[in-house]
Amino acid sequence: MSSVAIVYFSAQGHTHQLAEAVAEGARSVPGTIVELIRIVGEDITAGRWNNPAALAKLNAADAFVFGTPTYMGGPSAQLKAFIDAASEVWS
Ligand SMILES: Cc1cc2nc3c(=O)[nH]c(=O)nc-3n(C[C@H](O)[C@H](O)[C@H](O)COP(=O)(O)O)c2cc1C
Repeated sequence: MSSVAIVYFSAQGHTHQLAEAVAEGARSVPGTIVELIRIVGEDITAGRWNNPAALAKLNAADAFVFGTPTYMGGPSAQLKAFIDAASEVWS
């Protein structure tokens, strides 16, 4: 059994649709569990993302997929806030 966490931010729904499609593909592999984790603005305070329940799901995953719209040539600030918050787990 392996697990895949799909973490994404989507303001207008396009990235959400892509995340759902990736999840459907991953679920088609027998023995694969998929967690969809949507980054939302409510979890960001003073520029810092904080959602311990979502981080716990990530800690249990074997693989990650990140999704974000392009904002001004880079990832959205919302997804970057999540990545910054995950730096402790990463290190
Ligand atoms: C603030 C802002 C900046 C954007 N910058 C870019 C960009 O640099 N390049 C690009 O191709 N699209 C850019 N877009 C368009 C979004 O990436 C595009 O609409 C995307 O599909 C939105 O994803 P979502 O529906 O998941 O929110 C920008 C949109 C916004 C709101």
